Amino acid sequence: MCGIVAVIGSREAAPLLLEGLKQLEYRGYDSAGLATVASSLGDSKGVMTCQRAAGKLVNLSALVEEKGAAGNLGIGHTRWATHGKPEERNAHPHRDQSAEIAVVQNGIIENYRLLKEELQREGVSFVSDTDTEVIPHLIAKEVHEMKLGGRNDSGAMLLAAVQKVSARLAGAYALAVVWSRIPDALVVARRQAPLLIGLGEGEFLCASDTPALAGFTRTILPMEDGEVALLTPLGIELYDSQGNRKQRSPELLSGIDHLADKRNFRHYMLKEIHEQPETAELWVSRHLPADLSARTPVAFPFEDSFYQGIDRVQILACGTSRHAALVGAHLLEQFAGIPTSVFYASEFRYAPPPLVPHTLTIGVTQSGETADTLAALLMEANRRDAHVDKAYAPRLLGITNRSESSIARQVPNILDIGAGIEIGVAATKTFLGQLLSFYGLALMFAARRRSRSDEEIMQLSCELRAVPNQLRLLVKKHDRLSEELAPRFAETQDVIFLGRGINYPIALEGALKLKEISYIHAEGYPAGEMKHGPIALLDPRVPVISIATPGKVFDKVLSNAQEAKARDAQLFGVAPEGPDTEIFDALLPLPEVSEWISPLFSVVPMQLLSYHIAAHRGLDVDQPRNLAKSVTVE
Ligand code: F6R
Repeated sequence: MCGIVAVIGSREAAPLLLEGLKQLEYRGYDSAGLATVASSLGDSKGVMTCQRAAGKLVNLSALVEEKGAAGNLGIGHTRWATHGKPEERNAHPHRDQSAEIAVVQNGIIENYRLLKEELQREGVSFVSDTDTEVIPHLIAKEVHEMKLGGRNDSGAMLLAAVQKVSARLAGAYALAVVWSRIPDALVVARRQAPLLIGLGEGEFLCASDTPALAGFTRTILPMEDGEVALLTPLGIELYDSQGNRKQRSPELLSGIDHLADKRNFRHYMLKEIHEQPETAELWVSRHLPADLSARTPVAFPFEDSFYQGIDRVQILACGTSRHAALVGAHLLEQFAGIPTSVFYASEFRYAPPPLVPHTLTIGVTQSGETADTLAALLMEANRRDAHVDKAYAPRLLGITNRSESSIARQVPNILDIGAGIEIGVAATKTFLGQLLSFYGLALMFAARRRSRSDEEIMQLSCELRAVPNQLRLLVKKHDRLSEELAPRFAETQDVIFLGRGINYPIALEGALKLKEISYIHAEGYPAGEMKHGPIALLDPRVPVISIATPGKVFDKVLSNAQEAKARDAQLFGVAPEGPDTEIFDALLPLPEVSEWISPLFSVVPMQLLSYHIAAHRGLDVDQPRNLAKSVTVE
């Protein structure tokens, strides 16, 4: 994870770095730092300033404001701690012993221990606990050897040193390096971690993600795996991992808004929850135009052949995206009749199931950058490619909110959920967008496989078209209701969420939302599983939130809720109003909709209740402790 920014040009670098880092804070906010090099002629030429601060970016901004950081060349970093506590001494940039070379890096250097031992044997002393610190020391060593060989300080020398050092690093990383002796050169490199170069007016920038560039330029050059680049005020030199010079035309960045503001909302998360009717409306207008038939009920960007010859689906995802995948699996199996399995991407990587022919593999990742999901997809593609029988050939689909992200470059077929950038670390509107993508896929597969009648297909399409307006009412109502209920959770330490069938993943999602932003311990269970152990946890201090939507298992869920009530648990229902649901101590009412589309509604009270509980406790809802929006390490 972590976010890196670098800039070289004619303007002061520090404000640009801070602005870029602000857009990347979603990648980590344990500490931040920057290094600038003064390139002006005169006394200060070649003076490096390095400022680092533990905690959020505001601390670094205050430090820079107070102490200054001069120079037109610089690198910056916002950190999500992997190796070493989130303290100032572990914050980036890290420097070599002479403090001439500074490095920011994201990702993990897997062989850092070996490299560190080697350097220590040679007399290098380390001042941090990070894996990164080996890099400036190794670069310094290379530079020193080149000087002994008679080379003069130059950008080309720094480039050569970084190329040599990169070849020694194992793991997935992106890095940016400055050397105070060369105040007109910056070297960047990437391996299995995103890095993009931005071509601005009179300046070049480099960043881990597009929002950090979007405020400065729309012309970008995404770096490819293994590439190293030398940036000077005059231009970009790009090299592949073998050191061969590469030429590539830049691309135009589209569809990325510079970070939206919070409008009048207290937090981004609340704003994004309120944007869900819009997300649904946009999705419906793009994919469910009224003139579609039961034979082709959804406008997706795929040829007919995409839907043919598929006997199984497997879905790889993490966190909230995995919960969307579980709802998707229910729809694909129960509505469209395709056997479907869902895997934690991190588990799949090291214990994939035996290959089955004619399988569609779907990766779900809102950021498009989750390391485990990308690696699992790559591994699956490779082992299928290696199979002699074409029936096993890879068929891949990515579902993402970032059509310009790594998954879009890795996977041939992409469904862009188009929810607009999501800033709150807890995923909300992108979850809804992922669910809608699965509704679209289930409809298309059901139509192509003839597993549902035309009436059933048109019925579900029709219900989906009504979702945006129904959501609008629901979000408003539950915002108020959840705010009223939140104080009842002021002392709560544990919460149980129950759901069944298509709403079991929503119970998991409710528990995850609550955990990550309020730090209350929460578990989601299939309601029928309670009596097999978890029921022992219940007492009057443990609220139980039960999702009970009319359908196949409605009565069963109500009985399971009664079992909890009999153990004196406080019982909250997420269910339609009516005599059946009077058993609940408090009701979070849902509209009367079909069981198929109920998750699109039942998730809203989960999001809003979690939000208001956390906000009532005065917590940092948008940037909860220990988390980051984009998990780019394994
Ligand atoms: C929870 C949350 C995380 C992400 C997970 C996967 O609110 O946001 O659990 O869902 O880290 O991220 P993506 O979808 O970007 O692959």
